[in-house]
Amino acid sequence: MAVDEVLYDKVRAVEWRDGAVWLLDQRVLPGTLRYETCATAPEVAAAITAMVVRGAPAIGVTAAYGAVLAVSAAYARAVGDWRASARADLALLRASRPTAVNLGWALDVMERAMATLPPGSPVAALLAVARRLHEEDIAANRRMGALGAALLPPQARVLTHCNTGALATGGYGTALGVVRAAAATGGITMVYADETRPWLQGARLTAWELVEEGLPVTVLADSAAGALLRSGAIAAVLVGADRIAANGDTANKIGTYGLAVLARHHGVPFYVVAPISTIDAATPEGRMIPIEERAEGEVLRCQGVAHSPAGARAWNPVFDVTPAGLIDALITERGVLPHPDAEGIRRLLAAPTLA
Ligand code: MRU
Repeated sequence: MAVDEVLYDKVRAVEWRDGAVWLLDQRVLPGTLRYETCATAPEVAAAITAMVVRGAPAIGVTAAYGAVLAVSAAYARAVGDWRASARADLALLRASRPTAVNLGWALDVMERAMATLPPGSPVAALLAVARRLHEEDIAANRRMGALGAALLPPQARVLTHCNTGALATGGYGTALGVVRAAAATGGITMVYADETRPWLQGARLTAWELVEEGLPVTVLADSAAGALLRSGAIAAVLVGADRIAANGDTANKIGTYGLAVLARHHGVPFYVVAPISTIDAATPEGRMIPIEERAEGEVLRCQGVAHSPAGARAWNPVFDVTPAGLIDALITERGVLPHPDAEGIRRLLAAPTLA
C-alpha cells in the first residue's frame, strides 16, 4: 500500500458526516466493512455499549460527537434552557461504558465548552470543539509513536494485546502507533498479536490493520504468550490503557495483567502507551477503577457459536488492572515516564501540553 494510502488515513473508526456520527462497525471486521450511522445521542450511546466502536480514545471521540447530537436535539426542541434539556442524553452517553475514562474526559471537555458559549445556536461551536479533540488525539498518537519507537531496538519483535490502532483511537493508534512509527524508522520484524478473547480484538482488528499495511503479524492464542516470552524472541510488550489511576496502576483489556507478570518474570520490558486523557487523577489507585463485566454469552460463545454446554456459567470481566510496579515505562504525548508512580504522574499532568 502506498504511503499516502495507508489504512489509518483512509479508514476512520469515527467520523462526523452530514450531521451524524458514522461508526465503522468493529463487530463485523475484518470480513465486512460497514458503517453504522447514529443521528441521535441515544443511538451513539447504544453503539458504544454494543461495541460497534471500542477502544478508549475512540470511545472518547465518539462521545464528543454524541454530545453535539445531544445539544443539537435539545436546541431544536426549543423548550426552556437547551443545556438542561441536553442533560439526559449526556448522562446516557456517560453511562455507556464504565472503564474507559476517555469517555468521561471527552464529555467533561464538551460540557465545559457548553458552559461558556455565547447566545445563539451552540451546535457549530461544539462541533468545532469535538473536531479539535479528535485531531488532538491523532496528534498525540503520532507523538507517542515517535517516543515509543525510540525505545525499541531496530527490527524488533514485539508482543501486543487487544487492538490499540487506528480503530481504537481517533486515528493512527497508541501501542500500535508505536509499531507504525518503528516500522517506518528502525523496522519491525514481527508483531505478535494476542487473539484477545472473547471479542478477538487482536485476531480480527489488530491483524487486519497490520495486514492492510503490509506489516508482519502473527496471531497467537492468549495462553501462548507465556511460551513466547520465555523464548527470548520478544524485545518489548506494548499495550494501551483504558484508565490509569493517579499512582500509575493501569486498567486495560483482560489479560494485560497476566502479560505484565510474565514480561517481568522473563525480563522483557513492558510499556503502556496512552494519551494524557487516559489518566484519571481523581482515582487514587487501580483497585478503585470500575471494571466492566459483560454478558456471560460473550465467553460461552465465540462469534455467535456456542462451545460450552448449556448450564455452564461464565465470568466475563473485560478489563484487569496492572499494578504500576510492573510497568517499565508509560509513554504519553508529554513524554516517557519510566517506572510510573504517583509523583511521576503528578509531574506528567503538570507538564506543558502539545503546541
Ligand atoms: O473492550 P475494548 O475493545 O474497548 O477494550 C480496548 C482496550 O482495552 C484497549 O487496549 C484500550 O482501550 C486502549 S486503545 C488505544
